[in-house]
Amino acid sequence: MVDIERVTDYGALSERLAAEVLSCMLDSGENLICLPSGDTPLGAFKIIASKLSGKSNRLNFKLVGLDEWVGMGRDTKGSCQSCMFEHLYKPCAIGRDKIIEFNAQSADLEMECRKMDRFIAENGPIDLAVLGIGMNGHLGLNEPGTSFSQSSHIVPLSETTKKVAQKYFPEPVELEKGITLGLKHFLEAKRLILIASGKQKAEIVRRIMEEEVSERIPATIAKIHPDSTLLIDHHAASALQEE
Ligand code: PGA
Repeated sequence: MVDIERVTDYGALSERLAAEVLSCMLDSGENLICLPSGDTPLGAFKIIASKLSGKSNRLNFKLVGLDEWVGMGRDTKGSCQSCMFEHLYKPCAIGRDKIIEFNAQSADLEMECRKMDRFIAENGPIDLAVLGIGMNGHLGLNEPGTSFSQSSHIVPLSETTKKVAQKYFPEPVELEKGITLGLKHFLEAKRLILIASGKQKAEIVRRIMEEEVSERIPATIAKIHPDSTLLIDHHAASALQEE
């Protein structure tokens, strides 16, 4: 059963998320952490950066990159990896030795998937996976219809994702495919936190909670994960019955 944690606003969500991530980063264990790009975690990243600055190379955690648009990388403005670099890795001075991520510009994307799967099999499971919830309920780039047993894979993007993702880029871009960790990795993670903020997420949050667990809404995996939290602000919670 997923634990629903409703907080008042985006500031409170950011504080709460930052506290969870920092506690995993500061732990002495060699924790493997997966964090999402996107708009929702940016407030938490700012808090993490203010608390972690200068310390990160003495800590034992490693970050596993969640996803990327095929053909893009850290140098592409608007990409997932550029978002992580600008808002987390650079301000926290997290070096490349701590980051394992897809090369979405590789000529052999299948090999990238197998490389990531092998890394997680040998070093995992992921200790803490934090995921944003897409407007269509996707997690990472696991679009509706993705099998719960899927590991890393290359994805034809849904029309919703292609449209919504334009907000990350300075100019309109053609997006066709993504590369992403799979739902299997999230289900096997020791702890799973899904985050959503704002009125535009209220309907998908309602569907996640009210509809049955199904591949039609990937985020419903939170309801079968043994230690998961849906961390949402008041607006994202506004279509839930009790609100
Ligand atoms: P967002 O992205 O945080 O920008 O809303 C979530 C997602 O689509 O995965």
